[in-house]
Amino acid sequence: MMESLSSLVLLVLRAIWYILPAYAANGAPVVLSKFIKGRPIDRGKLFIDGKRILGDGKTVEGFLVGILVGILVGVIQRSPFGDKGALMRSIPLSFGAMLGDLIGSFIKRRLGIPRGAPAPLLDQLDFLLFALLLSHLSGFSLGADLVLVLLLLTPILHILTNRLAYLMKLKSVPW
Ligand code: CTP
Ligand code: MG
Repeated sequence: MMESLSSLVLLVLRAIWYILPAYAANGAPVVLSKFIKGRPIDRGKLFIDGKRILGDGKTVEGFLVGILVGILVGVIQRSPFGDKGALMRSIPLSFGAMLGDLIGSFIKRRLGIPRGAPAPLLDQLDFLLFALLLSHLSGFSLGADLVLVLLLLTPILHILTNRLAYLMKLKSVPW
């Protein structure tokens, strides 16, 4: 009993360690947006359906800072913590997270969901799925057990951290 509990805890910790650059990348633009007003990636343009391509929530600055912060986490995981593959892994994880976040917004706009309105599961999993996909394609595959842990854990952590960001006045809505 204790043994299986501790192996479950280890599995969760390993999963969080692996995905940390993607989490950092995803959270960084929220903090940045408190300090600067970025330029929308879609430059305010509309898609063929007459709705915004991505919306004002996806900025060039947020995208770039997200990738940089994610890679910075990879640098720290590698050097002080001695995880040799961490830096190279952090590149597809961070890029994938920011790309997935854009694709999520693209889908939200096509569904007619306005910028900042919640889209359950899509909001929590878009960045995760693309981070995992790109790191897998880059040769940094993760076992099915760890993927499953992340699919279950990420929505919970996402909701908790967004509430925290709302309480800290980093976000104007608690989702
Ligand atoms: N952000 C940014 N650039 C990005 C991603 C996020 O500037 N590429 C900032 C924006 O200020 C955004 C905030 O981080 O409002 C929160 O991100 P997110 O929840 O993904 O965006 P939403 O505003 O909810 O927009 P959407 O409905 O398109 O998800
Ligand atoms: Mg949002």
